[in-house]
Amino acid sequence: MRSADPILVTGGAGFIGANFLNLSVPRFPGRTFINVDRLTYAANLASLASIDKRPTYALERVDIAEREAVDALFARAKPGLVVHFAAESHVDRSILEPGEFVRSNIVGTYNLLEAFRKHCAGLPGALFHHVSTDEVYGSLGASGFFTETTPYAPSSPYSASKASSDHLVRAYAHTYGLPVKITNCSNNYGPYQFPEKLIPLMIANALERKPLPVYGQGLNVRDWLYVEDHCEAIWAVIERGKLGETYNVGGHNEQKNVDVVHRICEIVAELTRAPKEELLGLITYVKDRPGHDLRYAIDPTKIMNECGWQPKETFETGLRRTVQWYLDNTEWVEGVKSGAYKKWLEQNYGARG
Ligand code: NAD
Ligand code: DAU
Repeated sequence: MRSADPILVTGGAGFIGANFLNLSVPRFPGRTFINVDRLTYAANLASLASIDKRPTYALERVDIAEREAVDALFARAKPGLVVHFAAESHVDRSILEPGEFVRSNIVGTYNLLEAFRKHCAGLPGALFHHVSTDEVYGSLGASGFFTETTPYAPSSPYSASKASSDHLVRAYAHTYGLPVKITNCSNNYGPYQFPEKLIPLMIANALERKPLPVYGQGLNVRDWLYVEDHCEAIWAVIERGKLGETYNVGGHNEQKNVDVVHRICEIVAELTRAPKEELLGLITYVKDRPGHDLRYAIDPTKIMNECGWQPKETFETGLRRTVQWYLDNTEWVEGVKSGAYKKWLEQNYGARG
């Protein structure tokens, strides 16, 4: 990629995109970053406060599902690197409103690929990096790991839409020779995560002494990765991964949901000097998620061997940093919870949040 070509980041006002920009904009002071975001309920411009005044950063409020707007932006900006995060990302919402997931995740990715093909693919060193999920592989039983050759078997409308976007990216590489790379990552956690996902929801509710809703029996397993480790993995693949390849990203941090919630209660109790038993008493077993995948676990051998990537945080250090961040940033959480999110949550989930 030529250093004068801008880097276009989609979904940069969301959880992982904001962490990626906060890390990347100061690291590459000579590069221009364009954040393309529709600013949905999941976006939060306050997450970008550390970089949004920098001259090398710009926000473009564009809906990637709008073909003409995407085309006009690419014609103007001609990015040499696209890092594509933008998506509807919450499984529970995809069960209630699958149409939004088809629109943003499938049509949106298609529009980006078309614009990239037309305006950027010929630029020297151009790259389209697609950020995806391990959920495309479906659910594991009690043993085994997802590798890059595990067949796709998505279970939810969310994971089906992400699987579809992955297939489109590969098809564009195969058919049109587009320079692409894909990463499929496990569950992220860390600062700026919207408090509808398990870890931030449990932290926020524990701090407010609200019920901690655990789906089913809490025995489902997720493989947790600290968000900065994911961002570094994306850079490792951009810089050292092979064109056209897929890399699974995960840090061997498998945890049962109920154990995660217990550990959050213990850390919140310790850091706020609250009685642990009071917080543990908030755990409430609720109706299971329909089609709930039992277990995810990533085999990260390929990215470790080929790109020299390793996670820095263990689950214990990452979770502690995360709880501390939410304790230090109650304004951010309040800002999120008092807005559209709350209205939506009340309409769809009653007073849970
Ligand atoms: P998020 O929901 O926090 O943020 C998504 C961002 O995309 C928001 O800023 C939103 O406004 C934007 N967006 C949504 N639809 C858009 C549209 N039509 N046009 C423009 N912008 C739009 O999501 P996240 O958790 O940060 O996930 C980012 C990406 O990483 C997603 O593609 C997701 O599938 C993938 N991923 C997430 C995880 C995870 O654990 N969160 C793990 C692996 C992969
Ligand atoms: O694996 C990667 C995926 O991880 C990403 O692609 C998704 O964008 C991201 O949302 C995440 O999906 P999950 O469905 O695994 O994450 P969530 O935080 O919603 O749920 C984690 C686990 O906790 C899951 O087994 C469901 C359970 N859960 C979740 C919530 C919100 C609960 O028990 N109670 C809850 O209130």
